[in-house]
Amino acid sequence: MKLNKKILNTLLGGTLGNHIWLYPTPINLTYFWSFGSLAGLILISQIVTGILLAMHYTANIHNSFSDLEHIMRDVVGGYGLRYIHANGASMFFIIVYTHMARGLYYGSYNEPRYILWVSGVILFLLMMATAFMGYVLPWGQMSFWGATVITNLFSAIPEVGNSIVQLLWGGFSVDNPTLNRFFSLHFTLPFLIAGVAGLHLVLLHEFGSNNPLGINTIIEKISFFTYFWIKDFYSLLLLILLFGMFVVNLPNTLGHPDNYIEAQPLVTPTHIVPEWYFLPFYAILRAIPDKLSGVISMFWSIVILLFLPWFDSSPIRSNFFKPFMLYCFIFFVLIMLTLGWLGQEEVDYPFLQFSTIISFLYFVYFKVLTLDNLI
Ligand code: HEM
Repeated sequence: MKLNKKILNTLLGGTLGNHIWLYPTPINLTYFWSFGSLAGLILISQIVTGILLAMHYTANIHNSFSDLEHIMRDVVGGYGLRYIHANGASMFFIIVYTHMARGLYYGSYNEPRYILWVSGVILFLLMMATAFMGYVLPWGQMSFWGATVITNLFSAIPEVGNSIVQLLWGGFSVDNPTLNRFFSLHFTLPFLIAGVAGLHLVLLHEFGSNNPLGINTIIEKISFFTYFWIKDFYSLLLLILLFGMFVVNLPNTLGHPDNYIEAQPLVTPTHIVPEWYFLPFYAILRAIPDKLSGVISMFWSIVILLFLPWFDSSPIRSNFFKPFMLYCFIFFVLIMLTLGWLGQEEVDYPFLQFSTIISFLYFVYFKVLTLDNLI
């Protein structure tokens, strides 16, 4: 009993305790500040369900597809396990996109939180790589053709492009070595994500959270426990409702039906589309008919996030006080949604032309940030 108390005191009074228990939190945080904790929790869920799935999965082009069916039909709880993991990836992206939009809206990327923001962009890139490789593992038609299209993008790089593609493939086409590499990386990257997420939290607590007013000096702070534990717990319940609805009622809605057809290297699907969370960037990639320019635009559309403090030097962080920027932000969200819709349409008239215009507007938003945005 005495020992337990000692352990508890060390935990709660020590570094961990300072971060999740005593952390002085601005009193005016809204539910938008729950999305960081939710992202952490869903990451844990993905790691646990991933490890359990890996116990019944073999990364081999002759077995992987049927292994997934075996998990769903024969493994105790396998049906739930697979759908929690697959839909968990989608939930993770919904949460992280909202988390990023919150940061964008309230100007959380500006000093003193710039390095924190950079760690977030790194997390985002790692998440994208992990999700992309995870989608290849069921070895369905979309797994195979998605992997072929995306890995081929590297061939646009002059001189070294083809060597990079062959290194990724482990041969001269997407095949067994590719599947093995992707499985190995898909298994290990989430642990790197967890490490970077820990660093992200330490960086946050260095200067403390931003808040809806975007000013820090006059805001009263209270301890994270119990107030924000309860608030985050309530958000978690809502997430479980949404997540549960997908897992139980709509388990395949967010996936592509073609992935229930085993990979056939000689049969190209009429329409190759990535998972929904990649669609806005996929639309930017296809908006320019030239391959290299498309790849550069797509890459730049993500990397540009690292330069936000240079675009936006306004002394007022929160868009709440800048009506013009508030409308621009709403417009930006609409641009992202439109790009998402365009990413799954054909690369033909009128979608191609429309994608070019909307992709251009995506970059215009960052230009608008450089204007004197006090209005
Ligand atoms: C694995 C993914 C991620 C996890 C687990 C995570 C976790 C967290 C947590 C727990 C917080 C504190 C609570 C909150 O403010 O919501 C936080 C804050 C923050 N995160 Fe993340 N995060 C992730 C991804 C990202 C990404 C992709 C970005 C941006 C590109 C980002 C930028 C920020 C910023 C700027 C803050 C401070 C916000 C403020 O104080 O207003 N995070 N994150």
